[in-house]
Amino acid sequence: MFGRRTAPLEANEAPVKAAPKKPAAPAPKPKAAAPVKKAAAAPAPPRVAKPASTPAATAPDKVEIGGRSDEYFQTKTTIFNALIDTIDLSQLSQLDTETAAEEIRDIVNEIISIKNVQMSIAEQEALLQDICNDVLGYGPLEPLLARDDIADIMVNGSSRVFIEVGGKIQLTNVRFRDNAQLMNICQRIVSQVGRRVDEASPICDARLPDGSRVNVIAPPLSIDGAALTIRKFKKDKLTMNDLVNFASISPEGAKVLEIIGACRINTLISGGTGSGKTTLLNCMTGFIEHDERVITCEDAAELQLQQPHVVRLETRPPNLEGQGEVTMRDLVKNCLRMRPERIIVGEVRGPEAFDLLQAMNTGHDGSMGTLHANSPREGLQRIESMITMGGYNLPSKTIREMIVGSIDVVIQAARLRDGSRRITHITEVLGTEGDTIITQDLFVYDMDGGEDENGAIIGRHKSTGIARPAFWDRARYYGKEAELAAALDAAAE
Ligand SMILES: Nc1ncnc2c1ncn2[C@@H]1O[C@H](COP(=O)(O)OP(=O)(O)OP(=O)(O)O)[C@@H](O)[C@H]1O
Ligand SMILES: [Mg+2]
Repeated sequence: MFGRRTAPLEANEAPVKAAPKKPAAPAPKPKAAAPVKKAAAAPAPPRVAKPASTPAATAPDKVEIGGRSDEYFQTKTTIFNALIDTIDLSQLSQLDTETAAEEIRDIVNEIISIKNVQMSIAEQEALLQDICNDVLGYGPLEPLLARDDIADIMVNGSSRVFIEVGGKIQLTNVRFRDNAQLMNICQRIVSQVGRRVDEASPICDARLPDGSRVNVIAPPLSIDGAALTIRKFKKDKLTMNDLVNFASISPEGAKVLEIIGACRINTLISGGTGSGKTTLLNCMTGFIEHDERVITCEDAAELQLQQPHVVRLETRPPNLEGQGEVTMRDLVKNCLRMRPERIIVGEVRGPEAFDLLQAMNTGHDGSMGTLHANSPREGLQRIESMITMGGYNLPSKTIREMIVGSIDVVIQAARLRDGSRRITHITEVLGTEGDTIITQDLFVYDMDGGEDENGAIIGRHKSTGIARPAFWDRARYYGKEAELAAALDAAAE
């Protein structure tokens, strides 16, 4: 058989008994555990003891993924070790996935029968799937990657895996065999984008084939084993209707956002980490006309524009020799030579802010970008500091005038303490008074309602009563002033 090592399996090993999925009675446990330990201890030294620096588990509620018990993991380790002794994994990796999986299945079934492991068919099937995932895929991450409701996967060393579902972070029972397996899987992920992660280059950004965004930071920088963070790519992107259904924005607020998108109003989306900025930007791009030429610049392509005339650009990190980097600024500058009608910047975080403002100022109306900030005002301040730190020697008054002349609207996204994501402000940038930028809120999310019995924040979106926003003339130019007036009137009631 391909990949099989010459040393045959020892047939006379002690039987391994798979424990039931959820051990109801603790009594049979020592009996079942003893032979497993024996069998595992004989061929190889125990892989990893609990790292001394890991804080003792405080046993917060764990989310069960796949309902695996401790005994299951023990049995799996035993069988996995026997598998590694039997086959040559490097040869296996040369096979196509299906043949390799077939090969693994054959050998694992053989091991199960030789070691006399007692398992139900379902348990055996789960074990086979897990082992195939370990050898060929992303191991224990696979069941998490398969779920579309998970927004983020956060791995803090081999034994702590957190997920974010519905805005809440939860600890799971998913774990890696040891830190070596975790590093191995990190390596597998980043090698797909031609990168390497090890002690010499311990920080790496990558992407999964499905588009999910990955960051790895490995020891010695991360102290308790590699830290892996995955922002899952959502296949079915949320639409503005979904945001209304989730009460992230009111129907009238959504209408105003639609008008902002359609009337080519320069927009900045501000918000904290994971607050829904990119999702909102994606929704806003849905209102762009199909005959407009749009260029998107992102660090990792997340936006899914539906228009036919879109050019998607992505930055590039430096290679292992530290060369070949293409920054966001390079992309935005290059955009200007590509005859864009709108420029969409996934995330503004550095000196490209200057180029984006210039673009907004010079006939690329309707350009958009996101940035990290906790309020619209803070967002504008951040733009100013990005430009200052980018080495532009301009007086702050000039920079502020430039900001005011370019950005029309700031939309604030937030993830609230109950896990819900809301659009908390739709704010207009009006002008400067002396050295200060003047803004005006059109919509705000009012959280004065307190909390319900489940801890959910009771609040509502309300208009601030502005009947004629500064972009009124623009809305009229695009024939949308009646819709705008109706939405603002309805919201004011
Ligand atoms: N209004 C919403 N209601 C529910 N879920 C949402 C909402 N907006 C976004 N999400 C989900 O939250 C997760 C994070 O969203 P998104 O990527 O847009 O955030 P972000 O602010 O761009 O994050 P980052 O700062 O990491 O770039 C995604 O899984 C997305 O589907
Ligand atoms: Mg984002």
